[in-house]
Amino acid sequence: MLEIESPASPQTIDLKDYKIPDYYIETVDLHFELGEKQTTVRSRLAISRYSEAKAPPLVLNGEALELLSIQLDGQVLDKKDYQQNPESLTLFQVPERFTLEIETRIYPQDNTTLSGLYTSGGNFCTQCEAEGFRRITYFLDRPDVMARYTTTIVADKKKYPVLLSNGNLVAQGEEDNGHHFAKWQDPFPKPSYLFALVAGDLARIEDEFVTRSGRKVALHMYVQSHNRDKREHAMASLKRAMAWDEQVYGREYDLDIYMIVAVDDFNMGAMENKGLNIFNSKYVLAKPETATDTDYENIEGVIAHEYFHNWSGNRVTCRDWFQLSLKEGFTVFRDQQFSADQGSPAVKRIQDVNHLRTYQFREDAGPMAHPVRPESYVEVNNFYTMTVYEKGAEIVRMLYHLLGPEGFRQGTDLYFDRHDGQAVTTDDFVKALEDANALDLSQFRRWYSQAGTPELRISRAYDAEKSTYTLKIKQTCPPTPGQPHKAPLHIPLAIGLLDSQGEDLPLRLAGETTAVTGTRVLELRQEEEAFVFHDIPCEPAPSLLRSFSAPVKLYLDLRDEERYFLLAHDKDRFNRWEAGQQLAVKIILGLVKDYQQGKPLVLDSAFIETVGRILESDEPDQAFVAHILALPSEHYLAEFMAVIDPDAIHETRCFIRRSLAKALQELFAATYQALTKTGAYRRDPKEMGRRKLRNTCLGYLMELDEPDIRSQCLQQFNHADNMTDVIAALSRLVDIEGPERKIALQTFYDKWQEDSLVIDKWFTLQALSRRQDTLARVQELTHHPAFKLTNPNKVRALIGAFSQGNPARFHDPSGKGYGFLGDYVLKLDPLNPQVAARLVSAFNPWQRYDQNRQELMKAQLERIAKTPQISKDVYEIVSKNLA
Ligand code: ARG
Ligand code: ZN
Repeated sequence: MLEIESPASPQTIDLKDYKIPDYYIETVDLHFELGEKQTTVRSRLAISRYSEAKAPPLVLNGEALELLSIQLDGQVLDKKDYQQNPESLTLFQVPERFTLEIETRIYPQDNTTLSGLYTSGGNFCTQCEAEGFRRITYFLDRPDVMARYTTTIVADKKKYPVLLSNGNLVAQGEEDNGHHFAKWQDPFPKPSYLFALVAGDLARIEDEFVTRSGRKVALHMYVQSHNRDKREHAMASLKRAMAWDEQVYGREYDLDIYMIVAVDDFNMGAMENKGLNIFNSKYVLAKPETATDTDYENIEGVIAHEYFHNWSGNRVTCRDWFQLSLKEGFTVFRDQQFSADQGSPAVKRIQDVNHLRTYQFREDAGPMAHPVRPESYVEVNNFYTMTVYEKGAEIVRMLYHLLGPEGFRQGTDLYFDRHDGQAVTTDDFVKALEDANALDLSQFRRWYSQAGTPELRISRAYDAEKSTYTLKIKQTCPPTPGQPHKAPLHIPLAIGLLDSQGEDLPLRLAGETTAVTGTRVLELRQEEEAFVFHDIPCEPAPSLLRSFSAPVKLYLDLRDEERYFLLAHDKDRFNRWEAGQQLAVKIILGLVKDYQQGKPLVLDSAFIETVGRILESDEPDQAFVAHILALPSEHYLAEFMAVIDPDAIHETRCFIRRSLAKALQELFAATYQALTKTGAYRRDPKEMGRRKLRNTCLGYLMELDEPDIRSQCLQQFNHADNMTDVIAALSRLVDIEGPERKIALQTFYDKWQEDSLVIDKWFTLQALSRRQDTLARVQELTHHPAFKLTNPNKVRALIGAFSQGNPARFHDPSGKGYGFLGDYVLKLDPLNPQVAARLVSAFNPWQRYDQNRQELMKAQLERIAKTPQISKDVYEIVSKNLA
């Protein structure tokens, strides 16, 4: 491995080293004096030792803190009684029970890491997960130390009229010199990562929710006052989520008040602090003129996600950060279920699977591959990953398939009941489900410890004489870092067999007396096994892995006609879509080869006809139709290539879109017209589906680059009454050479320059443009006054979008795109290591590319590795890439 100068060999934390804490903290009394330059924090901790026999030193975590004083049971401690270093404070001798009072000074206004206490738009806020609390005061900053918190906040009344923390407001009042204070008390013991504080000038919107047991919960949402008119959707989503969790999981809210605060500067999506969620404003603020249908869906999902954490995360929390998926995987599954119930379940599943296969599969095949319950980390913030979240959710979904809805609910009831108020492990979760269902999930547990995407190779055989149909299934899993050999997994494979009419055949396995009609779940456990179905009257079309019942890659040699048949007839709507995707993948990969060999490209006419038929079909779920018409993404296609060729993928995919548009121009145009809006703007599943399909048609038509279509697109851009239609038009206009592009971009900017979230879209669309000059334009935009390196949304909108969402331009063979990313990783790292580490991750798949690109990407990784003082966040990603 490469010699890396800094930081002084960061430490690796291993799961196997977990030890229960030596000391517990029962209560925490915090006192904040928020100032314009500095903040002082007084903390009074009631601490008790775990073991009576030993008296180990007390080691508190602390980072970027100025220690002002320490007192133990009222006695000021002398310098020789403790030792301070940059990451901890050690007290050599402490009694069995004692009170510790610590005073520290911090500088929130200068805190660009957005971890701990910082300011955003002039307001104070916190982010403590995973290890931000130690940047506020010295503490046992680990999730298995749960304490009761009381928080007093003192600040200038004019500047910071709103003072919030977790729990209930128990006192407030005025002080002299224009200051006021508020005192909050949280009755529930919690880990430090759920602590939150907000102080500022914010507009409050109030609502109320009555729980099923009749308790009234005040719902308060805080936004900057110019965003008052964008709060309705988030509030309505919250109430739906609260009702849903009562109905589906029997979970009621437990405090008298639930607060949500929106801030503009935030490292991630949102944070589930007890009773006081803090959100990236992107996941709160919406009105039809500024937010797209996708934004609306995301808001609903994230609001629900954070709310659901109150039980799956807060009431039952994680023992250590290796267990992160305990709360995240389960909560993502819950929010996916919730969103599926709000609209089209098939469309929701398609979106989630698309996301998983595009990004999580890639992560699982690269240098950062790790199990859902990782074994080690250098920087825990690097493990808020697609694997922990999305694959973690797939594991919970598989349990749902294996147990069935009722068994699953019995399991979660037992889990919440058994572990309420505790900090537990993923194993405790599985155990509760197991115990409630009298079931053996020992083999299933491997899903948590084994990394990599399993592969299923399936062959089938029909025996007409015996009327039997046999599926032979072989499972393997490729090696991942540190895991050369894999053991077989317990996999639920949902299947159906279709007769020639497209009806599901009754399925009876050897040894069974009755048949099951409809989808049935096969349980795979062996490396190789066979399932024999009896009384199968004719050769069926196999519909396998229905609704994507397991996060695996499936290899099955279907004939094209079978895929066309499934696309038309499968009862499982997810698999209808999947059949179409498989056809498209096969066609595109074939053309990629032709392209690489310089052969002329010709699009299969059966495919064109099918697309035409789908357009003409009377399928009522128009969002579903739009998804069928969407070709697989360039990233997803790349997953199928031994050596990724981003140009060939891009050119071929564009060629197919153009060919479809040419061949079916009239149909696309007619559909576009037929789907013209009637009546006022509405945002319901039907209208959203209509917009989606109509904009899909527009997208295809714009491939033709004809003046009439361009002006139609500009027309939509100018006259739409909602952001969905505006963005759909603008995202096509940014690709073209004609004058419409410049006009539209300028118009958009002039209109929305005051709205930071809308300007993020403006940055992103330009970063995603197919045009050859995109990198130059992106570089120019980094100097635009609206671009701020300290604002993560801006960084993601421009640099993130370019490097992760525009493979054709990012992977320019000159290496200019790589150099640009390298520059910005190094610029950002000293300010915000968490976001810098996300950016540098765009290089993770570097070994999947050709020699030239590999060398160019490697050179950037080495350059970053050699830079003195890089953060451990970036160090971990870069060193794992170069290992
Ligand atoms: N628990 C939050 C969520 O999933 C994520 C916060 C993580 N933040 C971080 N800086 N690692 O909703
Ligand atoms: Zn979460």
